[in-house]
Amino acid sequence: MSRFVLITDDPAFEQRTRDAVGGGIRGELVVRRDVQLPEAPEWILDQDARETCDVLVFGPGVPLAQAMRLAAVFDVQLPAISLVLAAPADPDLALSAMRSGVRDIVDPAASVEDIRVLLERAGQAAENRRRKPADDQAPGAGSGRIITVASPKGGVGKTTIATNLAVGLGRLAPMSTVIVDLDTQFGDVATALALQPEHTLAQAVSGAAAQDPLVLKAFLTVHSSSIYALCAPHTPAEGDSITGEHVTRLLTQLASAFTYVVVDTAPGLGEQTLAALEKATDAVLVCGMDVSSVRGLRKEIEVLSELGLLPENHPVAVNLADNASGITIRDIEATVRRPVDVVIPRTRAAAYATNKGEPVLIDKPRDGASRALKELITFFDPSAPDRRRTHRRAVLR
Ligand SMILES: Nc1ncnc2c1ncn2[C@@H]1O[C@H](COP(=O)(O)OP(=O)(O)OP(=O)(O)O)[C@@H](O)[C@H]1O
Ligand SMILES: [Mg+2]
Repeated sequence: MSRFVLITDDPAFEQRTRDAVGGGIRGELVVRRDVQLPEAPEWILDQDARETCDVLVFGPGVPLAQAMRLAAVFDVQLPAISLVLAAPADPDLALSAMRSGVRDIVDPAASVEDIRVLLERAGQAAENRRRKPADDQAPGAGSGRIITVASPKGGVGKTTIATNLAVGLGRLAPMSTVIVDLDTQFGDVATALALQPEHTLAQAVSGAAAQDPLVLKAFLTVHSSSIYALCAPHTPAEGDSITGEHVTRLLTQLASAFTYVVVDTAPGLGEQTLAALEKATDAVLVCGMDVSSVRGLRKEIEVLSELGLLPENHPVAVNLADNASGITIRDIEATVRRPVDVVIPRTRAAAYATNKGEPVLIDKPRDGASRALKELITFFDPSAPDRRRTHRRAVLR
């Protein structure tokens, strides 16, 4: 059950929100009609409400500047509460709102159904954040999950998997999911998400951003699916200067501010990837459906196990799977000596989606690749059954 607080002087928006909450969300709504906001959270929410409120909506009528200022305070003092701002669609406004800590924007003219979906999602995200410390297996209590996507060989779909994983996890934790492109020389997360980043990894690991998570947040790029991205440097030379220590500090900072940190990597086990695996609470190990990629994966698993760098939860995903490759999933399992968890078919929609800059999960949610990617996401969803205990044989569908 979620608790929603709405601040608005707009009776029509209030009514639609009441109808949305009354229409099937398990939750209760409190409405405040005084839209002049105070300076501090405790002047809006008493002690009890601060502990129980899941979603606070700055509705129509609330002065924008006041909402943003207060959102920044909430973001630091009460990060479990999901903040929603009613504002017209405007990318610049959305960006500064999200930098202030607002997690979702709702159109002031949104329908009852749109408000219902948004409140449900924001409530779920708040619940996930509150549950986090108890569930958290990450080193350092209260920090988010770091999921490193790695493969020994190039071109097997790490970026495709990492971007879709981030988008999918962003639905569980909107504005609390970030993807980091650690393929520092030739990373293409920005291309896969059609982003034009103003800042990149190069700035994020240096100067004030390296000291302060709030400054770091300003260097991230917002994607329309309510996730953040930290894109690869603009030039390979800049990428070269990023050390394992930079990576360790960066991921620690991000995990303190986000529920999910998804890390895309370069092929192989370079210094940056090893640092990302060392910090990871989870990994996705990817191979294609060809002998050299599968043998490479076996070696990678062996090396990581010896180094003690294999996180406990590390689903194996076979990508670009098709029946005409001459090897089967069982052959792959025999070679890597462990079960394959997810098989992602080679599909035209997946290839097309990358070129279009729209993850296949958004572009073609019913495509075979999207269905397999959704299965992969359940490995990181605390509300899904524990996939390690209920392992089902992965098959190519
Ligand atoms: N399931 C799939 N079906 C069809 N095409 C796919 C699939 N997965 C990935 N691709 C395509 O394969 C190409 C390589 O994918 P991707 O860039 O994700 O691999 P990568 O492992 O990140 O490569 P690199 O090691 O070069 O970073 C892309 O053009 C992508 O669109
Ligand atoms: Mg890649």
